[in-house]
Amino acid sequence: MIDKFNRKITYARISLTEKCNLKCKYCMPNGFCPINSNELSDEQIKNIVKALLSLRINKIRFTGGEPLMRKNVISLLNDICTFAPIDWAITTNGTTLKHDAIYLKKAGIKHINISLDTLDSKDYKALTGADLQNALEGFYTALDVGFDTIRINFVLIKGISEKQIENLAKLTLKHNVDVRFIELMPIGQCAEYSENHLLKADVVFQILKDLQIDVQDAHAPAKYYKLKGAKGRVGLITPMSCNFCSECNRIRITADGKLKPCLHSDIEINLCDVLHNEDLLKKRIQDAVNIKPERHYLNENMYIKRNMSCIGG
Ligand code: GTP
Ligand code: 5AD
Ligand code: SF4
Repeated sequence: MIDKFNRKITYARISLTEKCNLKCKYCMPNGFCPINSNELSDEQIKNIVKALLSLRINKIRFTGGEPLMRKNVISLLNDICTFAPIDWAITTNGTTLKHDAIYLKKAGIKHINISLDTLDSKDYKALTGADLQNALEGFYTALDVGFDTIRINFVLIKGISEKQIENLAKLTLKHNVDVRFIELMPIGQCAEYSENHLLKADVVFQILKDLQIDVQDAHAPAKYYKLKGAKGRVGLITPMSCNFCSECNRIRITADGKLKPCLHSDIEINLCDVLHNEDLLKKRIQDAVNIKPERHYLNENMYIKRNMSCIGG
């Protein structure tokens, strides 16, 4: 699919659930609250995936909430990943990977991104309400199991992140992982928290003095660098200080069956009434791509209403 701005849409992100077991300050500070959750059924998700594949989507990333909190998620992924040999990926908080990583790998997941905003257990507890140990064990299990790519997502939070940047980046010296520093985006009910804690990605260059530019992934929101002698890369995702919309190749499906042509636009196209009919579903997806906005307006303080936990990043 090609949009109005000549961008080729080849990547879809599907949120499998709004549920999450953490209470991240910038995302779901009060934890998951089960109100009006109209989660798509397994069959409905499979229909969406089939339609996306026939529209030549070649990368699908499963997100949440926390995708591994969805009931019977492994069995769903076992089925879906057999549909086509594409880049199947997942973004997770990592806290259950100690058990799940091997099953994800067996199901056919190739790429795994793990959220880890600090290596300090007190800060982790304060930020997420949970124990760092589970996330760390999850990360090391993912390394043992071995995926094509393993990435750590580290959201930059003023007052918390500065002292952790070096620690996280050092993981790339020993392991073949990408550690990505992400500027906090104001979204939904947590928009004010993000505005108050914005830490621009320049800080990473101030702390990591010998970063060298590295080979870039086409269409990725991250720009990649390397520390001298490192096995992995350091990535910067800079939606606030540098906009990458002209390279955008993605659409999103929320856990309740809405297609978001852009993360930072309130435009949502309902898919629920056409999920039983592949032709109508494909037409609806194509129509949504046709109205994909050119760019975001975060720097003009235009923020979306939906919470990040209902979109999946
Ligand atoms: P890769 O496929 O590994 O490149 O992953 P990704 O960066 O696309 O996905 P991930 O779920 O790990 O998201 C990392 C961060 O990038 C999150 O903070 C996302 O919200 C942000 N992000 C992902 N895609 C977009 C996008 O299209 N626009 C903006 N503004 N941010 C995005
Ligand atoms: N801004 C930037 N990144 C965010 N994430 C969650 N909320 C925000 C936000 N407001 C990140 C998570 C996770 C990924 C899916 O998105 O840390 O790694
Ligand atoms: Fe794509 Fe929208 Fe993100 Fe820009 S803000 S990169 S258009 S999803």
